[in-house]
Amino acid sequence: MSNTVAVPYGLPMERDAGPFDPPRQITRLRETRPVSPMVFPDGHEGWLVTGYDAVRRLMADTRFSSRQDIGILHVPYETPGMPTATEPSPQMPGVFIAMDPPDHTRMRRTLTGAFTVKRMKQLEDHIIDVAERQLDEMARLTPPVDLVKEFALPVPSLVICELLGVPYADRDTFQVNSAKFLIKDQPLDEKMAAYGALSTYLAELVTHKRAAPGDDILSDLARDDDLTIEELTGAAFLLLLAGHETTANMLALGTFALLENPEQLAELRADPDLLPDAVEELLRYLSVADIFYRYATEDIELGGETIREGSTVVVSLLAANRDPQRFDNPDTLDIRRKARGHLSLGHGVHLCLGQQLARLEMRAGFEGLLRRFPTLGLAVPAGDVKLRTDMNIYGVHELPVTWTEASR
Ligand code: HEM
Repeated sequence: MSNTVAVPYGLPMERDAGPFDPPRQITRLRETRPVSPMVFPDGHEGWLVTGYDAVRRLMADTRFSSRQDIGILHVPYETPGMPTATEPSPQMPGVFIAMDPPDHTRMRRTLTGAFTVKRMKQLEDHIIDVAERQLDEMARLTPPVDLVKEFALPVPSLVICELLGVPYADRDTFQVNSAKFLIKDQPLDEKMAAYGALSTYLAELVTHKRAAPGDDILSDLARDDDLTIEELTGAAFLLLLAGHETTANMLALGTFALLENPEQLAELRADPDLLPDAVEELLRYLSVADIFYRYATEDIELGGETIREGSTVVVSLLAANRDPQRFDNPDTLDIRRKARGHLSLGHGVHLCLGQQLARLEMRAGFEGLLRRFPTLGLAVPAGDVKLRTDMNIYGVHELPVTWTEASR
């Protein structure tokens, strides 16, 4: 490949432009060549797509296979010990984020009913309750506290556990093990060990549900005899992981971003009706699920470049969502912006299945937090907040916060 813009050691991930902004090198690439050739650490060549238009087109085009879209499981070429792939990875039964139609369609169809807008709307009061109870507990603590531990992680974990029928008491098993997948340079054998532990746990759970189904999503799936135990296990793994890590990071990083933008925060406190737009804008601005992988199944023209069959293509949703060709002043957090059209929940056949659930959780979470902690502030200098630059889902490892009054 001639004229390659080398990205020699994997993707630039250092947040050198600030905790909420894309790495400068990524922004430069978007400005100069939004579909850029890149070199992976092992010398393998591929493409990095950063422009909004190109990313959107790519995600709508199933000739770009998702069979390498396994950021969740292992990131090709970046995971130490990962063999060089020259063809799509073997499919993991049930993990439909990494499948193509028609296999993807079959698996996804079994679940769409459980996640419709209507079904989620019915859950709204319950989600508000979960958030309020968690805030009750937080209000009893003496600040400073870690908002991730006390609020951002428990709320979506409690909700997804209940929806899926996974005992919340077992959260250590899945929170610890799922976090291990998301560490970028975690060696492959350690990732596989974590996957082994989690899938053994989930296989037992779904086997039990098949024998004695209850009133939850995994039981509904288990009633479908067309699905094997391996497929049920894979689907449970995907839903559990996608269902808590993403929203948890949005809640914590979103709070950090609002605290760092006090005027926006004040506007939101003054007018909670702005919340739905603010959530959309935070999704766009933060793009916590940033990097996704695709694989070209034939030669494809994209953004004036020819992507050869067999190439690995890396997408940055964060870069796309900050493209000035699509959003005015893209690097400004503006809660009044109509940010719909952002790509933070994906686009095309893999569009986030849990998007309505995520929105409800964020609305309930931010609304309750801001109402009950009117004096919420960071308990450490912003520069000391530990950023998740080492993880596949971005956010903060901890968010120490403090307050002088909380309403119970
Ligand atoms: C897919 C982001 C919350 C379940 C996706 C995709 C993105 C995304 C970008 C597309 C992946 C691709 O094209 O390869 C997010 C963000 C969330 C969130 C930013 C929180 C704010 C959730 C929740 C669930 C969930 C709460 C709960 C079940 C899924 C599933 C897929 C998916 C199952 C795969 C869909 C498919 O392959 O058809 N998500 N997600 N997500 N998400 Fe989410």
